[in-house]
Amino acid sequence: MQTRVKSYDSLEEGREPILRNSAQPNRPLLPLRLLQFLLLLLGLGISFSFLSFYISPYLKLQTESPVSLSKFQPCFRDSGSIMSWIRPPLNLRHEMNDAELFWRATLVPTIPRYPFKRTPKIAFMFLTRGPLPLAPLWQRFFEGNEGLYSIYVHSSPSYRPNFRTSSVFYNRQIPSQVAEWGMMSMCDAERRLLANALLDVSNEWFVLLSESCIPLQNFSIVYRYIARSRYSFMGSFDDPTGNGRGRYNAGMFPKVNLTNWRKGSQWFEVNRKIAIDIVQDTDYYPSFEQFCRPPCYVDEHYFPTMLSIKSPRELANRSLTWVDWSRGGAHPATFGAGDVSKQFFDKIGKDQTCYYNDQPTNLCFLFARKVSPNALDPLLRYSHRFFGF
Ligand SMILES: *[C@@H]1O[C@H](CO)[C@@H](O)[C@H](O)[C@H]1NC(C)=O
Ligand SMILES: *[C@@H]1O[C@H](CO)[C@@H](O)[C@H](O)[C@H]1NC(C)=O
Ligand SMILES: *[C@@H]1O[C@H](CO)[C@@H](O)[C@H](O)[C@H]1NC(C)=O
Repeated sequence: MQTRVKSYDSLEEGREPILRNSAQPNRPLLPLRLLQFLLLLLGLGISFSFLSFYISPYLKLQTESPVSLSKFQPCFRDSGSIMSWIRPPLNLRHEMNDAELFWRATLVPTIPRYPFKRTPKIAFMFLTRGPLPLAPLWQRFFEGNEGLYSIYVHSSPSYRPNFRTSSVFYNRQIPSQVAEWGMMSMCDAERRLLANALLDVSNEWFVLLSESCIPLQNFSIVYRYIARSRYSFMGSFDDPTGNGRGRYNAGMFPKVNLTNWRKGSQWFEVNRKIAIDIVQDTDYYPSFEQFCRPPCYVDEHYFPTMLSIKSPRELANRSLTWVDWSRGGAHPATFGAGDVSKQFFDKIGKDQTCYYNDQPTNLCFLFARKVSPNALDPLLRYSHRFFGF
C-alpha cells in the first residue's frame, strides 16, 4: 500500500513542471518529453514497488527476530514447502484464545519418523509475575547454544517487559493472563506455556522455571542430562500427612481415589508426549477445578496426580529444581548475596543421592530456586567457578 502512495506522490510532484511548462505553448517537443518523463517516473514507481515487495519479508524478519534471520527463509518462498510447517512461529503474540491454542498445540503427527533433520530443543518456560532479575545469568548460560533451546515467558498481562533486542528474552513473551498461586489459573498459565512451546515442532523437552530460578550446571550438562533421561522429571509422591492426603476431596471419586492422590513441586521438566497429555486433558481438569481449592493447592496436585494415573512409568517422580526446605515453615528459604559460595553449591551437588535412569547418582538438580535478585552480582562474578559457564 505504502509504495503505491509513494508512486502517486511522485507523479503528483512531477505534475508541477508540466503546469508551468504548458504555459508556454510555442514549444512543440514538449508533450513528447513530458510523456517520457511521466513514463520514467511510472517505471521508477513500479520498480520501487517490486523492490519493496521482495525486501519487506527480510525487513520484517529483521525486526521480529534478529538472531534467527540467517537461519530462516522468508515466508513467501517456502509457502508450500515443509519449511512452513517446521519453522517455529516468529511472532509469539498470536491471537488465539486458550481453546484455539490448545487445540492447535495438540495436533500430533502420526508418522513417528521426521522426514527432515530435526535437532530437538529444550523449551525453557519462565512463569513470572513481572521482571526477570536474574536474566543476565541466564543470558550467559544460553550463550553459544543457539538452536538447542527456545524461551517462553508468561508474565502478568499488565507487565511490559523492556529487554534489549540482544537479549535472549527479547520478544519471547506469550499472551498471558493473571495467574494466582494455589489456584487453577496457575495450572492454566503452565498449560498455556506448554501449548505455546508445543507450536514449535523442534521443542522436545519442556522445563518450567520461575523468576527466582538459576541454572546450577552449564548448558551442555543440562541438555545431556535431560535428553538422555528415560523419565520426565515431575515431582510426585504420596504424602500421608494433612498437607498431602489431607487435601484429597472424596468428591473426586471414582475418577481420582486416595491411593492415586499425589503431591509434587510445580517446577517440572516433561517430554513432548507428557506436555501434550497435560495440554489436552479434559478428563481430570473439571474434578481438580471443582474439588481442589485452597487449602488444596491445585498446582501441587493436579499434574502429579493425573500423570501418575495416566503414565506412571514415564515419571522420575522428582523435580530437577533444588529448593531449601531445611528452615521449616510454609515457604522455602530464599538465598541471597550472603549465601552464595562455592561450598554452598557444592553442597547442593554432593549431599544428595537420587536415581537417574535407575542408577544412583549425586547429580540430582540442574536448577535452584528461590534466589534473591541481590545474589546476581556474586553469581555473575563467579559463575564459571560455581557452575562451569
Ligand atoms: C484406585 O484407582 C485405581 C485405578 O486408578 C485402582 O486400581 C484402585 O484399586 C483404586 N483404589 C481404591 C481404594 O479404590
Ligand atoms: C514413579 O512412581 C510411580 C507410581 O506413582 C511408579 O510406578 C514409577 O515406577 C515411579 N518411577 C520411578 C522412576 O521409580
Ligand atoms: C560444562 O561443565 C563440565 C563440568 O563442569 C565441563 O567438563 C565442560 O567442559 C563444560 N562445558 C562447557 C561447554 O563449558
